Amino acid sequence: MCGIVGAVAQRNVVPILLEGLQRLEYRGYDSAGLVVVRDGKLERVRSIGRVADLTEKCANTQGHIGIAHTRWATHGVPSERNAHPHISKNHIAVVHNGIIENYEALRTRLTAEGYEFTSDTDTEVIAHLIHSHYARGNSLLAATQASLAELVGAYAIGVIAADNPDQLICARRGSPLLLGVGIEEHFIASDVSALLPVTRKVVYLEEGDVVEVGRHSYQIFDATGKRVDRAVQISELSNESVQLGQYRHYMQKEIHEQPQALADTLESVCNSQSLVPGIFGAEAAATFADIDSILILACGTSYHAGLVARFWLEEIAGIPCNVEIASEYRYRTSVPNSKALVVVISQSGETADTLAALNHAKALGHSHTLAICNAPESALVRLCKLRMLTRAGPEIGVASTKAFTTQLAALFLLTLVFAKQRGRLTAQQEQHHLHELRHLPGAVQKVLELEPHIAKLAKQFAGKHHALFLGRGLHYPIALEGALKLKEISYIHAEAYPAGELKHGPLALVDKDMPVISVAPNDALLEKLKSNLQEVRARGGELYVFADANTHIRAADGIHIMQMPEHAGYLSPILHTIPLQLLAYYVALQKGTDVDKPRNLAKSVTVE
Ligand code: F6R
Repeated sequence: MCGIVGAVAQRNVVPILLEGLQRLEYRGYDSAGLVVVRDGKLERVRSIGRVADLTEKCANTQGHIGIAHTRWATHGVPSERNAHPHISKNHIAVVHNGIIENYEALRTRLTAEGYEFTSDTDTEVIAHLIHSHYARGNSLLAATQASLAELVGAYAIGVIAADNPDQLICARRGSPLLLGVGIEEHFIASDVSALLPVTRKVVYLEEGDVVEVGRHSYQIFDATGKRVDRAVQISELSNESVQLGQYRHYMQKEIHEQPQALADTLESVCNSQSLVPGIFGAEAAATFADIDSILILACGTSYHAGLVARFWLEEIAGIPCNVEIASEYRYRTSVPNSKALVVVISQSGETADTLAALNHAKALGHSHTLAICNAPESALVRLCKLRMLTRAGPEIGVASTKAFTTQLAALFLLTLVFAKQRGRLTAQQEQHHLHELRHLPGAVQKVLELEPHIAKLAKQFAGKHHALFLGRGLHYPIALEGALKLKEISYIHAEAYPAGELKHGPLALVDKDMPVISVAPNDALLEKLKSNLQEVRARGGELYVFADANTHIRAADGIHIMQMPEHAGYLSPILHTIPLQLLAYYVALQKGTDVDKPRNLAKSVTVE
């Protein structure tokens, strides 16, 4: 959502903060700001817009300690006055990611105590609160700890004081934050990618941790205030993995990284001769033996992965499966089943709705939990008994691409493990699926070769205002995903329907201005799909069909065919996703939108 960077060093930290912000900009991008201590005073620079605008304004700013922030507005419109850092009485500066739920009560109280509010944010109460404790003679650490005890909600914060040029305090609860360890210098950041130019040595902070960060040393205190040691880890993330390289946008790069991301995610399985539950954690075998159904909770693209998985789990493993949008599940009265496995799917592992849904499920008595996630150190992974990490690498583009296909790969493995455990997978079938999985990265690579054709096709969409996506069965969620990709980055209104539903209403929308995009795999529903496509053509709708080899759908006036290189059986949804990602990308290029940072969106949605 928002991104935080901080540094205390002997050198000028402003370039480090700006570079870090640039790398975190994908997390939030409506405004940015930083503050340093200079000659005993706080010097703050803020800017609406992008980090590049802030960089221009920082030409003459320098200091040895500072904190910085990119914002995605929650409380208060995007504006310079609402941009972080927020300052209390020219003395305490704070950057914050998260939401303070009791900020109104605190604001009323602090106003009565004489504090003047200059923004509409919830963050400003933190600055004043810390100031109120600091002014009573507490150290910056003690003032921060006392303030945190009064906050309800989620936060990752960085704090500095004008009269304390050697010390930065940071803390986290519910929002990510890590410490970077350098030589005679230390850093904080929301995500390790921000710190790669300066260090790879990181300490992932735990829930409730508060840290006193100095130039030479740091001290970590846990939620109870006890001094604790946390392991220093060497991040495996390479600097190249977060650089754009030869690509024009991160989304394009990430689409092209899918063969490697899938190979990495499937590595341990593809190198072995058989499937074992252990890939989901040490306790998986015992847990799975006790399971009679599956409940999947996720949001957005991750929810679409869950919808595909339902087909696989019920058809291949014969296990009942429900899929719910996390933000709905948490607020409805559901009937818990202690024998259900709750599977939470998330790229970031930070999504507030998914985390809350998981906690809700646990509160209802669900103890069997599995996270499928791309962020190893995330709250979601830590909160689950079992885990399978997708190894997609950092996903910077706001529109999720490689995270989705690797989630699907992980969910297919889950299906096979359950099928095997339930006696529904012969040794021969197991070998067949393993063979198909080994072939998957290569098959995806071949689909990527369609890129130039799709780029050409995209030109026909640039002037459109609406689009319909059709799919059936296993591919209906892929139609949903295609529509989501198109709307979020090209701003074209797009809807997806199971093709059989068309005649029950949406067909009324079809005319020559409504492009209809159809996913047409060579499966049992193909003939039915062909009839549905005829219904569209008969109403003058322009059809764009992504068809498997051997589907015998012929190009004709008003019917454009994009032939897929092969048919991948159960893994077909993974292959069919790729051209829809490319279509959205090239339509967005045609429309000149900000592909990696579409308006109004943010990468990880850490608020409700
Ligand atoms: C769409 C997209 C979002 C996310 C959703 C969940 O391209 O990226 O719909 O899928 O916000 O995010 P995660 O997977 O991080 O929980």
